Amino acid sequence: MSDHAMQIEPRFDVDDIEQIGAEDEAETFIPPVPRVSIQAFCETADTAKMLQVAAEDRRMARAHTNIQSSGIDGAISFYREAPSPNLIIVELIGGPDSILENLARLAEVCDSGTKVLVIGHVNDVLLYRELVRRGVSEYLVAPLSTKQVLQSIAGLYGDPQAEPLGRVLAFVGAKGGSGSSTVAHNSAWMIANNLGTDAIIADLDLPFGTAALDFNQDPMQGIAEAVYAPDRLDDVLLDRLLAKCTDNLSLFSAPGNLGRDYDLEPDAYDRVLDVVRANVPAVILDLPHMWNGWVKHILLDADEIVITAEPDLANLRNAKNIFEIVRQGRPNDRPPRLVLNRVGVPKRPEISPKDFAEALNCEPAAIIAFDPALFGTAANNGQMIQEMAANAKPLEAFAEIAKALTGRSEPSDKRRSLLAPLMARLGSRKKS
Ligand SMILES: Nc1ncnc2c1ncn2[C@@H]1O[C@H](COP(=O)(O)OP(=O)(O)O)[C@@H](O)[C@H]1O
Ligand SMILES: [Mg+2]
Repeated sequence: MSDHAMQIEPRFDVDDIEQIGAEDEAETFIPPVPRVSIQAFCETADTAKMLQVAAEDRRMARAHTNIQSSGIDGAISFYREAPSPNLIIVELIGGPDSILENLARLAEVCDSGTKVLVIGHVNDVLLYRELVRRGVSEYLVAPLSTKQVLQSIAGLYGDPQAEPLGRVLAFVGAKGGSGSSTVAHNSAWMIANNLGTDAIIADLDLPFGTAALDFNQDPMQGIAEAVYAPDRLDDVLLDRLLAKCTDNLSLFSAPGNLGRDYDLEPDAYDRVLDVVRANVPAVILDLPHMWNGWVKHILLDADEIVITAEPDLANLRNAKNIFEIVRQGRPNDRPPRLVLNRVGVPKRPEISPKDFAEALNCEPAAIIAFDPALFGTAANNGQMIQEMAANAKPLEAFAEIAKALTGRSEPSDKRRSLLAPLMARLGSRKKS
C-alpha cells in the first residue's frame, strides 16, 4: 500500500493542504472542557450510558460530572435543595409542549448563571428555535453519539472569543498580619464547598505564603514553577502543579522558602492567570501585603478586590490609599470590598467599624471578631474554620463574602433564571 501511495503525485500545493487540514480540524477538534460542574438527568438507559462514556473522555477530565437517571422530576426536586451547577443536561422524552412545560418548572429552581442543554426525542426546528430563544444553550436529538455530545459541551465553553470563564478575586491586607490570607482561604472554602463552585487559590506570597500550611498540604514549587516558565504552562502542567484540597478546591501553592529573590516583572503573572482562569470559575488570589508593579497590576486587573484591615490607624491610612488608587485606576468597576478583621482585641483602643467604613466611604462586606483560640487552633491544625467548628460565628462572615463575590445565593434565596421569560410566557398562556 505504501508503494502505491508513493506513486501518487501531489496534487495540492502546501497552502491548500494546510487549509483542508484546518477545516477538517475545526469540525472534529474537541477542546478540553474546563473545570466546570455538570449534572445530567436522564430518562432513558441509552442516554445515560452515552453520557457516562462522554464523562470518562479525556477532554472531560477537569469537569465534575454527575449523571442521574431520575429525569426531569429528579432534577427539579434536587435543585430545590441544592445550588445549580454550571451546566445541567436534561433528557426530556415528551413532545414540544411537554418539553416547554418541564423546562418552565426547572427554571423555577435554577440559578441564573446555569446553562441548560436539553436532549429531546423530537426533531422539530420550531421547537429548537423557541428553546434557544428562551435561553436554552443547546437542544440535541437522541440518539446521540458520544462525540456529538462532547462537541456540544465543549462548544458551550470553548469559544476563545468568549469572556474568560473564571473570575479573578484578589485578596490583599491593608497591613501585614491583618488576616487577609485567612479571609481569602476561608472564603474560597465557602465558594467551593458551600456554593459548589470550583475554585483555585493561588498563593502569590512566594517567599512567605501560608496557604499550603493552612490547608495542611505538602510544600510544592507550585506557582513559582509556573511563573518562572510561563510559556511551558498548559492545562497538563497546571494539573500537575495544583494540590487538591477538596473535590472543588485546588491550591496553587507558594514555595514558602527563600531559594530565590522573587523579583518579578509587573506582568509576570499574566500568562499564569490566563491559564488558571480558563480552567476554573473562581480564582482566589492571596496577595502579600506589599506594593510594587505586579501587585498593582494584578489589583487593577482583578474582577473583584477584597481588602482586609484591622481597626487601627495604620490600617485605615493604607486601606484608604489602596481604595483611592483602585477607584482611580478602574472607574467603571465597583470599589473594593472591605473586611474588618480581628475586631475587639481586649484592651486595644480601636477605631469603630462605623468610623472606619465612613472614612472609606463604603459599607464593610463583613466584620470578624478577634478570636485567637479559634483562628490559632485552625492555623495550627491546617484546617479551615468550617472543618473545625461547623457553627463558628465567623462562618457567617465568610459566607457573606463568598456570596458577594460570586453573586450566588443559597438555594432558599430568590433565584432568577435564564429561563425566566419562558416561565412568564407559560404563566400568561395558562391564564388566558
Ligand atoms: N479574626 C481573627 N482572630 C484572631 N486571629 C486571627 C483572626 N484572623 C486571622 N488571625 C490570625 O492572624 C494571623 C495573621 O493572619 P494571616 O491571614 O496570615 O494575615 P495576612 O495574610 O494578612 O498577613 C494568623 O495567625 C491568623 O491565624
Ligand atoms: Mg498573607
